[in-house]
Amino acid sequence: MFDLEKFDLKLNTDVIGRNFIYAGEVPSTNTELLNESKFYKKHGTVLFAEKQTAGKGRRNKVWYSDAQLNLTLSILITESKYLQKRMNIVNFVASLALATSIENLYQLRTELKWPNDILIDGKKVAGILIESISKGSKISRLVIGMGLNVNQISFQRKFTTEPTSLKKELEHPVEREKTLAEILNTFEEILNTSKKFPDKILEDWKAKCRMIGERITVVSDDETKHGIFNDIDKNGFLVLRTDDKIETIHIGEVSVL
Ligand code: BTN
Repeated sequence: MFDLEKFDLKLNTDVIGRNFIYAGEVPSTNTELLNESKFYKKHGTVLFAEKQTAGKGRRNKVWYSDAQLNLTLSILITESKYLQKRMNIVNFVASLALATSIENLYQLRTELKWPNDILIDGKKVAGILIESISKGSKISRLVIGMGLNVNQISFQRKFTTEPTSLKKELEHPVEREKTLAEILNTFEEILNTSKKFPDKILEDWKAKCRMIGERITVVSDDETKHGIFNDIDKNGFLVLRTDDKIETIHIGEVSVL
């Protein structure tokens, strides 16, 4: 059972997670928070679930996570200025926050995989799914969904990237309350930095992405492309250098050749 008091004692934020909703079971924390209900209005609201019955992954995949062992949560962002100006880097803010928290708390070396997976020793420990709702041409609410494998040690299904968890890597159980508080504290700090210094976020992110410069394959919905992972541009897109041209990739699954 998640101990709310323990978590609250470690939470140092001003805004993020100050409205904290603890749910036993929901279909998906992202789907819930996207819903414009009166409970989910405040910028920084965090919805945490012990179990998701329809957890969503990127590119229409399912996010599997055993109940009560991991961290599955979503953060609501409604600050309109932020959404108009920094929408392109919010996934980098979130993945950097997860990676930095894991490194600071557990001294595990993390690696970031474009667009926003967190790896330890080449295995996926966490993923992020960002979804939003627009009113006219403006984004009115954005939800950052985070799934971090904490104490789960067996993964039955077949995955494109081999999964792992903090417990598997450390060979001992991990306290979810302390871990979640650290993630939200770090997320708020990096979110604040991203308002003034968006370039710093991209630089920090790139420093943790060891695939830059490598020969990669990118699979998007209907195409597979090969080339050198040249860079991440200012909009957060992957710059791929093929034999004859430079291409900008907006979405896809990257693997090193
Ligand atoms: C991915 O790597 O494919 C993204 C996984 C995102 C999973 C989280 S768990 C909490 C939130 N609610 C969801 O339905 N998905 C995200």
